[in-house]
Amino acid sequence: MENPKNHILVIFGASGDLTARKLLPAVFSLKVQKLLPEKFAILGVGRTLFSDIDFRKKMKESILKFSKEKNPDGKLIDDFTESVFYRSMDNATAGDYNGLKLKLEDIDKTLQTSGNYIFYMATPPVMYDVIAANLTHAGLTDQSSGFRRLIIEKPFGYDLNSGKELNRRLHEMVSEEQIYRIDHYLGKETVQNVLVTRFANGIFEPLWNRNYIHRVEITSAESIGVEERGGYYDSAGALRDMVQNHLLQMVGMTAMEPPSSLEPDAIRNEILKVFQSLQPISEADVTKQVIRGQYTGSTIRGECVTGYRNEKGVAPGSKTETFVAIKFFINNWRWGGVPFYIRTGKLLPTRVTEIVIHFKKSPHHLFQRENASLSSNQLIIRIQPDEGILLKFDMKEPGSGFNVKNVNMDFHYSDLANIRVPSAYERLLYDVMIGDSTLFSRDDEVETAWKFIQPIQTAWATNKNIKIYGYPAGTWGPSVSNDLIEGCGLTWRYPCKNLSDDGLYCEL
Ligand code: BG6
Repeated sequence: MENPKNHILVIFGASGDLTARKLLPAVFSLKVQKLLPEKFAILGVGRTLFSDIDFRKKMKESILKFSKEKNPDGKLIDDFTESVFYRSMDNATAGDYNGLKLKLEDIDKTLQTSGNYIFYMATPPVMYDVIAANLTHAGLTDQSSGFRRLIIEKPFGYDLNSGKELNRRLHEMVSEEQIYRIDHYLGKETVQNVLVTRFANGIFEPLWNRNYIHRVEITSAESIGVEERGGYYDSAGALRDMVQNHLLQMVGMTAMEPPSSLEPDAIRNEILKVFQSLQPISEADVTKQVIRGQYTGSTIRGECVTGYRNEKGVAPGSKTETFVAIKFFINNWRWGGVPFYIRTGKLLPTRVTEIVIHFKKSPHHLFQRENASLSSNQLIIRIQPDEGILLKFDMKEPGSGFNVKNVNMDFHYSDLANIRVPSAYERLLYDVMIGDSTLFSRDDEVETAWKFIQPIQTAWATNKNIKIYGYPAGTWGPSVSNDLIEGCGLTWRYPCKNLSDDGLYCEL
């Protein structure tokens, strides 16, 4: 593995949850694997007052609590946090950036970090261009004395226009090569494995098209609610929070053509082509192709679960969706006529993300089997948890006659001895450090994804007749979402049962 060049990682929003839960533990894992440069430092920036010592203590606690390393070594954490610094400042105040610059120069001099900086924006989205402008004004994005890279968290804008505007503003200050728009789903080992499964094996690709595939289903279910993020979530909703980015990227990986090489742009060009081929959903068709839902209070295993509208930070009559299911088509030679179904939701019965390829059924039924009208073949790529691949197919039930039974051919990553699956943030941070942008969204990809989402947002905002269905927490979302699936007797795949026995859905 390539060793990154010496640098300082500057994290804006350093006193927040993302830094504590994901970023610091991920960088610590890079340290354990000896993937950090020889001279390296982290500078946390935030409004909360901390001394370097206090911040190090807090980060040590976070690493102990959230690190993926088994039994993280306290001494190694201390060595690591010795190069962690903190600066309290207001990100919006341009004048504060001169002080930031001096602090960086100071660390550079003491630790010889070579004048290279990565700026990670783990802040509310409204701050992205403000921080970029202030950095630029202070001369901190100029690459004449070292590399300067900006990592931008999602959501990248909140609709098509704001996404475009953010790109335009950033391009006034830095080049596209300096921008790393992070989508942590692309950092997941199993999402990258979609490419390898498809393009390293000769057996899948010939079948991977409209001739053999009946439909494609992608689910990203969460068993948690909005927790402490009600304020952010209420203005985002599942469409912006999960679909515009994570789910569409999985669609891109599943549907793309083979790239000509593994160069960042070769892969991103193919994902872009998929986004450009998404058949637009007109505002009039939103009612037919999109279902939105919101979790309501319920009882799960005897425990009362709060409904979305009673969560902290959520408006009492909120119409924000915590569940969304969409049916759409990809207009190209490979996929013409094949329906794609995607769904995501909070407080569903379990946490599971999977891509299900439903193959067409055999043309003639020679053998007796249950549900002979349904296909017996599905390839299920389990993104998380229990990462792996499952192929469902029919085989003969032992004994007389030709009774057929559907069985699983199953691969679990966990069966691979001594394989450590890196966290998404670990992989992505390392990639920024070595300057590899393959797994980051490019400007045109983000805008094209917004273009697909925009009519849905507009229809929901303007057409008061579009229903939002309540679904009891712990169920698979509004059961009307099954009506999206074309074909007699077909439904979504349900990896487990509803947990709540409360009524299935109601209109809100
Ligand atoms: C984030 C969303 O991007 O992804 C969260 O903002 C969501 O709302 C999370 O919970 C899901 O990520 P993962 O990796 O747990 O599937």
